[in-house]
Amino acid sequence: MKIRELAEKYNDYIIERRRFYHTIPELNFEEVETTKAIAEDLKSMSIEVTTFPDYNGLVGHIRGGKPGKTVMLRADIDGLPVEEKTGLPFASTNGNMHACGHDAHIAMLLGAAKILVDIKDELEGNVKLLFQAAEESCYGAKYYVDNGVLDGVDAIFGMHIWGTLDAPLMNLEPGGRMASVDNFKISVTGQSSHGSAPHLGKDAIVAASSIVMNLQSYVSRKNNPLNPLVISIGTIKGGQRFNIIANKVEMEGTIRTYSRELRTTLEGELREIIENTAKALGCEAELEYYYYAGPVINDHEDLNRIAHDAAVKLYGEESLTAMPKLMGSEDFAYLMEKVPGFYGFIGALNKEKGIVYSNHNDKFDVDESVLHRGSALYAQFAYDYLKEKAK
Ligand code: NI
Repeated sequence: MKIRELAEKYNDYIIERRRFYHTIPELNFEEVETTKAIAEDLKSMSIEVTTFPDYNGLVGHIRGGKPGKTVMLRADIDGLPVEEKTGLPFASTNGNMHACGHDAHIAMLLGAAKILVDIKDELEGNVKLLFQAAEESCYGAKYYVDNGVLDGVDAIFGMHIWGTLDAPLMNLEPGGRMASVDNFKISVTGQSSHGSAPHLGKDAIVAASSIVMNLQSYVSRKNNPLNPLVISIGTIKGGQRFNIIANKVEMEGTIRTYSRELRTTLEGELREIIENTAKALGCEAELEYYYYAGPVINDHEDLNRIAHDAAVKLYGEESLTAMPKLMGSEDFAYLMEKVPGFYGFIGALNKEKGIVYSNHNDKFDVDESVLHRGSALYAQFAYDYLKEKAK
């Protein structure tokens, strides 16, 4: 077994592919050329590919030489509507940018594919490579679950390259890693009157303001402080003119938590606060609540151990570091709800090389010297998982 050496052998290939995909970022649900290029890359390794007639992304199939379970490795492939300011020679010029490092994810998984093909006779089961579209939409992964792509898969592993984590460190930690994401809209209806005579109207702006404050009071007073919860109102639109009492306000917001239990009751509790706050001020309010990805929680003891041990086998205990959990979200949660999964992080940050910007920044870059380590970790996790479960 020489996964580490194979990853080093493919280092130049991995970096070359990362730069290629970096030049052609496509937005979520538009990853047509990216999907085609990945399919070609996999076919050139004699890997069988499944594409979808009505959706982007694809699956590569590597059949092991021995019977066993099936493990899926996942990389997301979409870019962001960010105008790139890195000044890199391979910077994107199409108005979009791989500002979240999904180009690195594609390259790392292609590197893993090369390694796994080389050792496929030794694999005690099968590996599926999921190149997933539309992660940035918060629900792109759901398509694959709904369309049976995970049927027959026994476990899934994914990771993210991270701009605030020092390269080449990896973070492979049990427990909560990323929060759930649910979004909402609130419409407040009042009655207009002259701005000098508020008593003749019903002020939707005052009612909306009270709702905003009461939602924050829910977070600080009704939610258990040991349970991380964010409720943010991101937009607020209302009113017609400076001297008219507003009869309509629309607001949009997002909710992040780690509590699966809270997600079962929160919508009802917020609706009560929102409707009653408006009512107390003579207005009416309506809540529309949209459920997206759940929390990403590494809560499978066996997968936690296999991921940890894979990294230690490759690069030693010193390659691992702790990282606080994030209130950001990942639609990998949809995949983990379907099959047991593990989600990790690999560092992109390198101050000496001037690579210091965080994900989604228009100057975001990654320390490319870590990419082959990501490939090795993908491959080692798959190899070790299959070996352990074949026993
Ligand atoms: Ni991302």
